[in-house]
Amino acid sequence: MIINEHIEDYINSLEGDLPEELAKLEKWALENKVPIIRKSMQSLLIFLLEERKPRNILEIGTAVGFSTLFIEHFSPKGAKITTMEKVEMRLKEARKILKDHPDITLIEGDALEQLELLSRNHTEGYDFIFLDAAKGQYLSFLQHIRKLISKSGILVTDNVLLEGSIAESKFSIERRDRTIHKRMRDFLYELKHCDDFETVILPVGDGVALSLAKGGRPL
Ligand SMILES: C[S@@+](CC[C@H](N)C(=O)[O-])C[C@H]1O[C@@H](n2cnc3c(N)ncnc32)[C@H](O)[C@@H]1O
Repeated sequence: MIINEHIEDYINSLEGDLPEELAKLEKWALENKVPIIRKSMQSLLIFLLEERKPRNILEIGTAVGFSTLFIEHFSPKGAKITTMEKVEMRLKEARKILKDHPDITLIEGDALEQLELLSRNHTEGYDFIFLDAAKGQYLSFLQHIRKLISKSGILVTDNVLLEGSIAESKFSIERRDRTIHKRMRDFLYELKHCDDFETVILPVGDGVALSLAKGGRPL
């Protein structure tokens, strides 16, 4: 928890109810220990989707499709969503949950490979990219995201502050977590120092980076 739990609980208590389908899926996911976006991220996504009104959305990290349906619900009618997941256990549920949603395309397989394929074959840019997958791979994903994002598109990256441990020296991080700690620091450094994104890092949920593409493809 990055911010005081008491404050987070208070902010969450102000949130309205989710539509029934999403509320049921959220409950099921939490009961079954599927990691899904927290309330604070939900609220931020609603705000961003309302403000940006994206038409072509890419999500990396579907899990069972909770955030995918969430994004669909709060996006303009007709917006297209492409989402990627590689773990069979999650895909089994995601296929069922997303099957009656023609605007959603579920890409099965490792996102690094799939992003490369997309960036080779896809001509339109994505104006909203939500990155919520393996934290240690974010920097590798970024090389492809750069090619896929549209001009003035937004990249929303979740879990970038690693429950606050990102700020700790590597020597106080458990040996098994050091690689992820270093990779996330490298990712954030790159986002903050490169020429093609303007990035703000917010202590929302487990940390969110919002990055606006200064260049990018036509939409
Ligand atoms: C935090 S969960 C996503 C939660 C989902 N966005 C939601 O809020 O409903 C991260 C997901 O990313 C998937 N994932 C991790 N690395 C991946 C990769 N390289 N390619 C595809 N999926 C990946 C995991 O299997 C996991 O289901």
